[in-house]
Amino acid sequence: MNSSIRLAELLTRIADIGRDPTSGGYRRFAYTQEDAQLREFFAATASRLGLAVSVDAAYNQWAWWGDPDRDPAQNLVLGSHLDSVPSGGALDGPLGVLSALVAVESLLDQGFQPKAAIGIVNFSDEEGARFGVACLGSRVLTGETSSEQLAQLRDYDGVPFDEVIARAGVAPLGRDDQTLARIGRFVELHIEQGHQLIELGAPLGLASFIWPHGRWSTVITGVPNHAGTTRLAERDDPLCKAARFILELTDLAITHDAIATCGKVVVDPNAVNAIAAAVHLWVDARAADPGVLDRLAGDITELAVGYGAHLVNESLTPKTTFSSSLNAAIGSLLGHPPVISTGAGHDAGILASHGVPAAMLFVRNPTGVSHAPNEAATREDMGLGVEALITTVRGLTT
Ligand code: GLV
Ligand code: MN
Ligand code: MN
Ligand code: MN
Repeated sequence: MNSSIRLAELLTRIADIGRDPTSGGYRRFAYTQEDAQLREFFAATASRLGLAVSVDAAYNQWAWWGDPDRDPAQNLVLGSHLDSVPSGGALDGPLGVLSALVAVESLLDQGFQPKAAIGIVNFSDEEGARFGVACLGSRVLTGETSSEQLAQLRDYDGVPFDEVIARAGVAPLGRDDQTLARIGRFVELHIEQGHQLIELGAPLGLASFIWPHGRWSTVITGVPNHAGTTRLAERDDPLCKAARFILELTDLAITHDAIATCGKVVVDPNAVNAIAAAVHLWVDARAADPGVLDRLAGDITELAVGYGAHLVNESLTPKTTFSSSLNAAIGSLLGHPPVISTGAGHDAGILASHGVPAAMLFVRNPTGVSHAPNEAATREDMGLGVEALITTVRGLTT
């Protein structure tokens, strides 16, 4: 069976997990029933291939072909994540995990005998949809997020982190140096989240670096009152102020040649016939250049002050450059695909910032859309992605 058919078959097997039939979007959050089903699928599929399946101290799932402790620096790890943003697409995450499973299955069929152990990882909670911190599995694994910091987290329902995982039957998490040491080299295949490969007319690309990015939150307050009896001139409506804040924020980002998004607001109390008391806003800002992001963040902080609000930083991810030697090796194996930067965060970036030689392979996305239901890739391009992983594994472990 060829790779693209195998991949399509695996995508079909998880197609109904967490899918909203109306929008076609996925809701696959960490430590939920959907997450458990996806993890069961990963374990069952990897076990069927004869791989040794395990879970690390940060709740990431692993499948190994060969002994990962024999010569850890030579190990080659593939993979990505299976969770999603709210109403996410089918491919952000799963494409990387499923392509890795198909690549390994093909290599086994071909009788390939790698000289290094090959791992496949399903990183937990990459999108940060549940607790607000992206790449939580790799951040905990590397020790970047400590147990103390985990204990401070609350999920979207206000439930403390420790309680969420206890309810899911998961033991307390912590850094895992032994697992980290096993990631000799990491290659994450991912759907492209933009138009660059379409514009370049290329099915695949390699990543140069991840833009520095951060998340902030703030609360704009007002005076709650009756929607029918309060004169417009006498109102202090926080939602009107929030609307202006968002527009000004966008203008600031344009001025800095950067990107800023307010994709999440919570209106308190959110009643149709009442002027709100407060609006909670979350800001995501990114720029290719760290200095630009710093200046933009400073300007947004000042902007918030003008609205009587205080901007709180929730996470900051520095610019992360992928391994030039790994990129050079993969580039020559794959006939030098284009090299592009990305504004999206990934576990590969977290690993790279902790000294792991890491690279990313992007698969062309004809809609250019991601973090939304109509994210796409052609079957042919996805097949080329799997073939690229096979070539990479052969080239790097022979
Ligand atoms: C994660 O995908 C992010 O870049 O927000
Ligand atoms: Mn994503
Ligand atoms: Mn992703
Ligand atoms: Mn991501």
